[in-house]
Amino acid sequence: MDRRDFIRGLAATGTICAVPTRGGAVAPVSDPALAAFIRGMPKSEYHVHLEGTLEAEMKFALARRNGMNLPFADVAAMKASYVYNDLPSFLAIYYDGMKVLQKEQDFHDLAYAYLAKAAAQNVIYAEMFFDPQEHLKRGVAMADVIGGITRARREAERQLGIRSQLILCFVRDLTAESAMAALDAALPFKADLVGVGLDSDEAGHPPEKFREHFAKARANGLKVTAHCDVDQADTLKNIRTALTDLQVDRIDHGGNIVQSPELVAIARARGITFTVCPTFSGTLRRTEKVPVDVVRAMMDAGLNVTISSDDPAYMGSEYIDDVLIRAAERSSLTRAELVTIARNGFAAAWLPAADKAAMLARLEAYVKQA
Ligand code: HPA
Ligand code: ZN
Repeated sequence: MDRRDFIRGLAATGTICAVPTRGGAVAPVSDPALAAFIRGMPKSEYHVHLEGTLEAEMKFALARRNGMNLPFADVAAMKASYVYNDLPSFLAIYYDGMKVLQKEQDFHDLAYAYLAKAAAQNVIYAEMFFDPQEHLKRGVAMADVIGGITRARREAERQLGIRSQLILCFVRDLTAESAMAALDAALPFKADLVGVGLDSDEAGHPPEKFREHFAKARANGLKVTAHCDVDQADTLKNIRTALTDLQVDRIDHGGNIVQSPELVAIARARGITFTVCPTFSGTLRRTEKVPVDVVRAMMDAGLNVTISSDDPAYMGSEYIDDVLIRAAERSSLTRAELVTIARNGFAAAWLPAADKAAMLARLEAYVKQA
């Protein structure tokens, strides 16, 4: 069996989460009109890890620029190594990959490349995650990390018309002290941040570990979100804590909530938005006898769903249009549901009400003429 077929077979059985594809091409869609509608639609994105947009080609370029050797012969060999079967095995590849990010210019180039791709796909607004603890560990200064990204954000807004903001993620499986040190190092730059989040390996690192961090972030005017990755141990307990105890403003992934009508009711009452990434976690498998389609189940439960690309460089180089087109197919999303998802996005933006309204108006104008 050809290696690619082997990987596809694993993906089909749910043994691995994502399939590196040739050049990021998505299989032809059965509804080209719907695909064209998706591509043309003004969009926003709320769950994209900048380090997860670090494409293999850029890794080689940055390694060369920084005088580093990478243990891969070429881009194809590097991409072929992106095979994982759960969150920890994904994270090992993701953290290893980001070591080439060393200088302010590297963070700038990474962020600009993502924003250029997103702008080309009619993303008009993005809130992007980054993982500073991983960079501080390697001796990179917070000023270079945030400074490079912020410079790219400003240039992209001026040159490409895409607006963006930045969310600092605590790497939950590092120590609480390391997370607090990162927050303290970032607070002098708080004007360049909109919120804090929680990512990495959830097992044994529940959201309450970050109670003080979230409180300090809030006291400094920042919003709070948290990953609740699908099918993790204690996922419903962690979703409950995030929702009712820590009172997060948003939940990233969170698909297992459909297993608890009580939590669904709480999330609906609080108007919580979920940033769902179907490429990585589109199906509940481990906790269900019959696999459950996360986007379909959450939409049917009346939750505020948005759709994002998560770590596109490690997920077949599928950016937002491809992610939405694939989601429309696998979750049988109608055009009206896709518009609802796009509306949910702009409504969830951490922006002043007038700015959100202006973005929503662009969406409505598009829908009217499409
Ligand atoms: N979940 C947890 N940690 C992560 C993710 C994710 O989706 N992406 C990058 N780090
Ligand atoms: Zn994520």
